[in-house]
Amino acid sequence: MKRRPLLAGNWKMHTTVMDACQLAAEIGKCSVGLTDRDVLLAPPYTVISEVAHVMQGSEVLVASQNVCWEAKGAFTGEISPTMVKSAGGSAAIIGHSERRQIFHEDHEIINKRVRGALAFGLMAVFCIGETLEEREGEQTFVILEEQLRKGLAGISSEEMGKTVVAYEPVWAIGTGKTASKEQAQEVHAFIRKLLTEMFEKDIADSVRILYGGSVKPDNVDELMAQPDIDGALVGGAALDAESFCRIINFI
Ligand code: PGA
Repeated sequence: MKRRPLLAGNWKMHTTVMDACQLAAEIGKCSVGLTDRDVLLAPPYTVISEVAHVMQGSEVLVASQNVCWEAKGAFTGEISPTMVKSAGGSAAIIGHSERRQIFHEDHEIINKRVRGALAFGLMAVFCIGETLEEREGEQTFVILEEQLRKGLAGISSEEMGKTVVAYEPVWAIGTGKTASKEQAQEVHAFIRKLLTEMFEKDIADSVRILYGGSVKPDNVDELMAQPDIDGALVGGAALDAESFCRIINFI
């Protein structure tokens, strides 16, 4: 099955309003004419609306870096799916390892976020990944299965069709240490097999599975050439227009 590649930039806690507008404008320019792939930017909440404004008229999608499950209410520090949409966003990253590790978000809360995002019509970019300790202890597949089953509990096949999975080995995030193309492909194939058990086969076949963790201009092509790698979730290299432009123009 042919899946449309998705290249996503996660800006994390970087960029002032001015930096964000500048970076978005440069990415906008180099994404013109890319009709065979999707590009998505996840800027900080404070600039979702500015970035969406800069991207108006382009095909570039805008996402939040997390999202609450309620439309509004007493949830200090959170952002709702309705807010993301009203600011011009159409997707949300959920379950990023920094949310899991630094802010102790557990399977249950991540699952609520995924279900909330989908219920309000956002595309969910659901992240999973093992730590170095877990990989070295040969726990990778056990950990990933638990993250997938618990994070996606209660999601219908139809909703899964609007969900993207991002495999981001924690040991490869921001470390300059990328999973080899073979390591990444092995895990992506495992994820797809599991999705086949959890959802309908044609859904599992159509779900895009992104790789994240030190994706750079010099490794994007070989990663994207793998049969089950359908895109990339990029952190550090997404903050540099030239690097990200090369990544979205992968061959
Ligand atoms: P990195 O981050 O590209 O800087 O490794 C990826 C991510 O955390 O999404």
